[in-house]
Amino acid sequence: MRIDILTLFPGMFRGPFDESIIKRAIDAGIVSMHIHDVRNWAKGRHKVADDYVYGGGPGMVLKPEPVFAATEAVLDLAPERGPVVLLTPSGRRLDHELTLDLAREKRLVLVCGHYEGVDARVHEHLATHEVSIGDYVLSGGELPAMVLVDAVVRHLPGALGSPDSAVDESFTEGLLEGPPYTRPQEFRGWEVPEVLLSGNHQEVARWRRRRNLLWTAQRRPDLLAAASLTEEEREWLASNGLAPRGGGG
Ligand code: 6GU
Repeated sequence: MRIDILTLFPGMFRGPFDESIIKRAIDAGIVSMHIHDVRNWAKGRHKVADDYVYGGGPGMVLKPEPVFAATEAVLDLAPERGPVVLLTPSGRRLDHELTLDLAREKRLVLVCGHYEGVDARVHEHLATHEVSIGDYVLSGGELPAMVLVDAVVRHLPGALGSPDSAVDESFTEGLLEGPPYTRPQEFRGWEVPEVLLSGNHQEVARWRRRRNLLWTAQRRPDLLAAASLTEEEREWLASNGLAPRGGGG
């Protein structure tokens, strides 16, 4: 996958992509990352990329010309086509499904909004997708772009060490995954559950599934309502006083 990021703050991306899983994926040739400074496409001696709001109001808005010019130039850098994703608080909230959809693309162009917003014509005529990472306001789309890249790159074949890691984790079955145990077997009097030491894989799997059900019921009952549960699991939850609120099946 090829990922191009358009931003007024290219320096923000230096640290995060030089570490850990994303760095490994880049080094392994699974993904290539290209950061572009939108200001390079701004006109005039001062390379102004933002301007006042028509009709009045506080703050500065990203101008359409440099964003369109940058995006069109960057699209021409590679033959593959893919979505142009605008990171904006008014976008669709990023979730597991959307990260899976984006991971199927050959390339992504991410446009980071900044200041008090981006000219409406970018939203209407340039972006194919608008994505937010949650219901709170950040000062720009840079951190959301990093979040999106991390979540998408994890899905690319070979990006994670073990082929199981990506499918085994939280959200793949619509449930949260309870935290694991590691050594020591006893810490400050708190014991690792016996079943995990048994070597009985079937028993371990059953215990984990039930623990995930409990964990999710207690923390995110909204997820449980949408998850696929067997009749037996529903009864088991109910017998523990934790009933999913309809849905699923
Ligand atoms: Cl994508 N941008 C900004 N500025 N704030 C956000 C966001 C995006 N997602 C959540 N908050």
